[in-house]
Amino acid sequence: MVSREISLDLLNEYVENESLNHHCQMVAEAMEAYAKDLKKTSTQIEEWWAAGLLHDLDWEKFPDEHPHKAVNEILPEYNYPESILDAIRAHAPVRTGKEPEAEIERYLFACDELSGFMNAVSLMRPTRFEGMKVKSVTKKLKTLNFAANVPREDINKGAELINKDLSDHIQFLIGVFSG
Ligand SMILES: [Fe+2]
Ligand SMILES: [Fe+2]
Repeated sequence: MVSREISLDLLNEYVENESLNHHCQMVAEAMEAYAKDLKKTSTQIEEWWAAGLLHDLDWEKFPDEHPHKAVNEILPEYNYPESILDAIRAHAPVRTGKEPEAEIERYLFACDELSGFMNAVSLMRPTRFEGMKVKSVTKKLKTLNFAANVPREDINKGAELINKDLSDHIQFLIGVFSG
């Protein structure tokens, strides 16, 4: 498996926008935490982390080709395993036609938009994720003009894909991001 150092160098080379870079690191953290929670092997944990970190690698520089540019051109050069490329394809089914099926694919889909949304919630709070309540997140989800660009249906679909109540999924991620 490609080292974390190389993956982070790649991220920093292609994603200069601070908030997008931060989003990628948050999704990596979420994926790593779930991989550990599911008792994955150490290689799998690295793969889940990298899938999270690199899922939006080409979004800033090649928005029209996202995520094709990353999975077909950038990442294969570094020999990232097909499981990671498929997970990245499946986080954007509308663009790629690849629905999330394998576990890593379903978890990436489930962590992506929700992490972005929860980050928006955290920015409204002086203590960020510290002391955040599930209820304040679900309340904001129902406030459609809050973080209006985050598709609520993808957040619900994500929780379904990993067979979790949305509140449990949110609670888990609060634990990850406040840790
Ligand atoms: Fe994306
Ligand atoms: Fe994303």
